[in-house]
Amino acid sequence: MESREFTGDEARWRAVSMRDRTADGRFYTCVTTTGVYCLASCAGRPLRRHVRFVDSRRQAEDAGFRACKRCRPERLIAGSLAQRIAAIDWAGAEKALDSCGFAHLGRLLGDDEMAALRASYERNELFRSKVEMKNFGFGAGEYKYFADPLPEIVRVLRETLFSPLVPIANRWRAALGGAADIPVDHRAYRARCAAAGQNRPTPLMLSYGPGDYNRLHQDLYGNEIFPIQIAILLSNPGKDFDGGEFALTEQRPRMQSRAHVAHLYSGDALAFCVNDRPVAGLRGVYRAKMRHGVSTIVRGRRMALGVIFHDAV
Ligand SMILES: [Fe+2]
Ligand SMILES: [Zn+2]
Repeated sequence: MESREFTGDEARWRAVSMRDRTADGRFYTCVTTTGVYCLASCAGRPLRRHVRFVDSRRQAEDAGFRACKRCRPERLIAGSLAQRIAAIDWAGAEKALDSCGFAHLGRLLGDDEMAALRASYERNELFRSKVEMKNFGFGAGEYKYFADPLPEIVRVLRETLFSPLVPIANRWRAALGGAADIPVDHRAYRARCAAAGQNRPTPLMLSYGPGDYNRLHQDLYGNEIFPIQIAILLSNPGKDFDGGEFALTEQRPRMQSRAHVAHLYSGDALAFCVNDRPVAGLRGVYRAKMRHGVSTIVRGRRMALGVIFHDAV
């Protein structure tokens, strides 16, 4: 409904002419003469012939445009968390998950929400356990698993991001010979995890300092596996830290591993395959095995939130 507005260039130019705040974040205005991209409501007054429209910040930046210093399009966060999740391009995310095993979901958290989450990392009563990664050969750095009841923002993220991913997860399971029977309601899914002996929550926060890294791995905590998980970057790359890129590898049968780097901006969410996903090949469907990790942090502190949907034994 909402997302059908501002789809044509004419409607977009009208919104820019009126500096329509309700259009902010629905598209971005690239100004070819200055090389910047703006929100619809920007006070700048470009000429129509110097403007082209794109759907996302990523498209603008990929085309070489920089964020406008006046309207700060990179800082925009609009609506409730549930509204932001509903506004995600889920059809596009599904395509990306199918084709490469991960999908950029765009910026989900605002600066204040990120700061609150980072601060909560020091509150031990919110967590059920802490892992020093070097003690387990997982890498270097540390992470903590949230305890039940999850903080409200984490609970909302986990429950609300789950449902749109279920049809994809069920289709993947069916393609790999399993049952397409994951319920769309996360509470129902948690009951199923508990029945399988997995009743400890898995959302976690990770904190890496200089020299820290996370080896390529899969987040499996039992037989019950929801095949897609989410990572949200809680620090500002280039400002709070350098290095620390999110890396994924994909291995198809009888092929060398392929590597991907998913560059994230602060507050961005990434959906990615936990372990296996189906890939159509010449002679049927193959099982592509995926792993993920984080490259070495060169400077500063990188914090992230991980939202895994299955619980742990
Ligand atoms: Fe992980
Ligand atoms: Zn601007």
